[in-house]
Amino acid sequence: MSDASTLVYVLNGPNLNLLGTREPAIYGHDTLDDIAAMLDDRAHTLGLTVDLRQSNHEGHLIDWLHEAGSRGARAVILNAGALTHTSVALYDAVKAVAVPVIEVHLSNPHTREEFRRTSWIAPVARATIAGLGPLGYALALDAAATF
Ligand code: DQA
Repeated sequence: MSDASTLVYVLNGPNLNLLGTREPAIYGHDTLDDIAAMLDDRAHTLGLTVDLRQSNHEGHLIDWLHEAGSRGARAVILNAGALTHTSVALYDAVKAVAVPVIEVHLSNPHTREEFRRTSWIAPVARATIAGLGPLGYALALDAAATF
């Protein structure tokens, strides 16, 4: 196993590739590239490395969680998008890996539709940050630095 103790995976699920144009009143105007650049800067200051990925496919997120676990990554910051509310497979994947997972949401799902109030990630996550926009990712990275 290579030394990945400073590596933080930032995994983003369905529709998050559309950030910037997707419902900006809810998700803001920053693109995922903007968030990646902000996290790269912050990671540099913290002595960490960020590997930010996005997929619209559940299996990719599961494979990347396994990869983070097998590489011994420091942490995973996970915004699973709508899969948060549906995916037992992601729940199992988070449970199956030793790496701590921080659940992040740009919006606060608890203030929105009823179906967003269930999270399959929250019970198996180290922490959850929701409703702070891109700052939530930054705060999650700060937390990962302390792990
Ligand atoms: C989201 C919240 C989810 O309910 C939604 O399906 C998303 C984005 C957020 O970041 O606020 O796709 O995870």
